[in-house]
Amino acid sequence: MSLKILSVVGARPQLVKLAPIAAALGAAGHRHVIVHTGQHYDADLSDVFFSGLGIPDPDVHLGVGSGSHGVQTGAVMAALDPILERERPDWVLVYGDTNSTLAGAVSAVKLHLPVAHLEAGLRSFNRRMPEEHNRVLTDHAADLLLAPTEEAMRHLAAEGLAERSVRTGDVMVDVCLRIRDTVLARTGGDLPESLPEGLPDGIDPERPYLVATLHRAENTDDAVRLGSLVDSLADLPVQVALLAHPRLVARAETHGIKLGRGALRVGRPLPYAGMVAAVLGSQGVITDSGGLQKEAFLLERPCTTLRTETEWPETLAGGWNELVADPGALGPVHWAETATRPAPDVPRGTPYGDGRAAEAVAAILAERVRR
Ligand code: UD1
Repeated sequence: MSLKILSVVGARPQLVKLAPIAAALGAAGHRHVIVHTGQHYDADLSDVFFSGLGIPDPDVHLGVGSGSHGVQTGAVMAALDPILERERPDWVLVYGDTNSTLAGAVSAVKLHLPVAHLEAGLRSFNRRMPEEHNRVLTDHAADLLLAPTEEAMRHLAAEGLAERSVRTGDVMVDVCLRIRDTVLARTGGDLPESLPEGLPDGIDPERPYLVATLHRAENTDDAVRLGSLVDSLADLPVQVALLAHPRLVARAETHGIKLGRGALRVGRPLPYAGMVAAVLGSQGVITDSGGLQKEAFLLERPCTTLRTETEWPETLAGGWNELVADPGALGPVHWAETATRPAPDVPRGTPYGDGRAAEAVAAILAERVRR
């Protein structure tokens, strides 16, 4: 049976998840309508993912841009209503935990259209994070919860949502391993010297380096917190390639914080294959991104996460990922040892599935459709 599925996407991590889903829906013969909200509009955060990951161009672009949470979420909802009314898909598919996710879910549910939430059931239990509001509200609005892990299934069951939940595995594994194989095939597996392109000027890829990203509101919006995190990165004894999200650049400028100093070299966000290559060539990763924590885990590089908690606790097993909320409090020696630690000598298992999650999603959407 051929379905009509409408994906609502808008921010960088959603485009990464969209790539394997678009391929799987196409392979299953479903009609796929892609609506881009415009939450991310810089080419580095949007266009390069469509071209780099072979995603069909969006059918509709809402062009909402940046704004406060209410303004951005409301603008997506207002713009989506007529599109959803016109298309009346069998499923509205929303991804992850951004304002675009919540807006898509609320618009659809109010028009009595079935909603499926990809990457359902993740919880940080940190009610100060905008992503946590978006996850919880989206899960409770949606009709079908596509959970990546056992832990996510447990969270959904604890909130009374077990009947709507299905474990599919994580579509990020599908895309990450596919791109890793392409990158390695290009270089004949010769790591790390021949790999990374697009690293910040001043990084010498022949010497050990760390990849760093920082963009969460709780790390960038407060001047004291951001200043202290940047100091800690700048003081590390190895070169640090900071792939700066525009939010970080904007907040650092507002707060009068200089990013490119000490060990830090600042560059632009990388396209997906560039990021995979940069991580493969690196000694490790320092980040507050959910996706990058998992990519480091899948690519077998140690990760240090600049947060108090993670939605991906499976990455913590065996020390592949470590949470360091306040590097300054560790003292410079302990911080440097943590950030530059070698990869653990323990197997990681496959808590995120086998790289065929998108196929499972396509099959479940067909099985659970209500007509
Ligand atoms: C959003 C998501 C976050 C996700 C991240 C991935 C929410 C609440 N946050 O955060 O969960 O991890 O995307 O990147 O939905 N900006 C630009 N160009 C752009 C987009 C943003 O310059 O194309 C700047 C603007 O200064 C803007 C700021 O970044 O005000 C924040 O953008 P926004 O989309 O609100 O949130 P992100 O921090 O990108």
